[in-house]
Amino acid sequence: MSVADLIQRLDVDWVSVLDDHDRRRVLQACDRLKAKLETPMDTTARLAFSAHQAMAVRLGIDMKLFDAMAKVGQSTGSFKVQDLCEETGSDPLLVRRIIRFLAAMGVIKETDDSYIPTPLAAAYVSTSPLSAGVIHSTHFLTVLSRLPEYFHANGWKSPDDGLNGPFQFALGTDSHYFDFLGTHPYYQQAFNTVMTLSFRRRGKDWFEFFPAEERLRASSNTDPLIVDVGGGLGEDLKKFKERFSALPGKLILQDLPAVIEGAKDLPVGIEAQSHDFFQKQPVRDAKAYFMRTVLHDWPDRQAVQILGKLRDAMNNDSILLISETMLPESGVLLPSVISDMQMMGSFASLERTQEQWQTLLETAGFELVHVWLPDDCDRSPASLAEQPALLEARVRRSP
Ligand SMILES: C[S@@+](CC[C@H](N)C(=O)[O-])C[C@H]1O[C@@H](n2cnc3c(N)ncnc32)[C@H](O)[C@@H]1O
Repeated sequence: MSVADLIQRLDVDWVSVLDDHDRRRVLQACDRLKAKLETPMDTTARLAFSAHQAMAVRLGIDMKLFDAMAKVGQSTGSFKVQDLCEETGSDPLLVRRIIRFLAAMGVIKETDDSYIPTPLAAAYVSTSPLSAGVIHSTHFLTVLSRLPEYFHANGWKSPDDGLNGPFQFALGTDSHYFDFLGTHPYYQQAFNTVMTLSFRRRGKDWFEFFPAEERLRASSNTDPLIVDVGGGLGEDLKKFKERFSALPGKLILQDLPAVIEGAKDLPVGIEAQSHDFFQKQPVRDAKAYFMRTVLHDWPDRQAVQILGKLRDAMNNDSILLISETMLPESGVLLPSVISDMQMMGSFASLERTQEQWQTLLETAGFELVHVWLPDDCDRSPASLAEQPALLEARVRRSP
């Protein structure tokens, strides 16, 4: 087959009929092909200039260009630079430069005398969760770009203090990332939205492979069944309530005040509570204390303190449930190492292997009872990247 034939076959529009599984397989094949085709110079250029593209989209979001495109495009199907300037009141030269960047990226299509928004452009209007994703991730570029200087200044060792790490260095602040968010509503809002994005909810829900009905029993409706510590907007408890509506016991959602304020649509049976998990845990003797993607935000130094507050509130019958990605010892895939670097930059923290989880739990006075995974998860790097594990632990009692 000639190169021209090959390119023509790749160009045909069969993509729209693929289901999600096949779509991912084709994307992976494209990645492999790209790796074979690229020279080191090509790869370096792609890596070095990817942040520019993310930033062009971010500027378009902040300047409300995507909102303006949607509004103008709704009536005419297309727009001109002048239309966006009128809608947003922005400088024509700046708008033109951003728009032509977005056209070069294929986010919008350029015609002879105007532009046409694509579905991707529609995904970046202010109200879209994906625009929150771009705001959140481009904010992180501030930290990422200063990592080399951080290590030059602090020694080349893995950061281990959430209150004095790359984030504080890059932003010149003493605040922890979450305190910073509490005083920056734009980024707090973006963070909250990102926490609800589907890419953060890969794999099965923890209660689909943990014997919840058998193990989570409260004696009465007034006894605490599950406390979701750092539970965000309550996604896990809402799903749990939907699935096990008849199970007795209280479901309690805890998070910082700025987050709890946003948790407004909770169904009856879920109680929201502002609570800082570094303070004494107000709900004692719950059947389960649950944390999903909370401890990966904290290095062992602070994670031990958080766990200590839970340990003090637990009785012999209480269990600790931790839902987190568990890194394999080797062969870790790109999404997992990216997440690990994100944890390092924002929180001086890390994604952990089973051994690292076990060490953390033991240091905090717990014993790891079981690592729950669905039966069809073979613990390969690919399956562990797609499926968070559920670690069950209990307080270690002296013999
Ligand atoms: C990565 S999010 C996980 C949210 C939720 N569990 C989920 O999986 O969608 C971490 C959560 O911890 C909360 N958090 C951070 N510091 C906290 C603190 N000191 N006390 C209570 N919650 C805190 C954050 O506000 C955030 O909602």
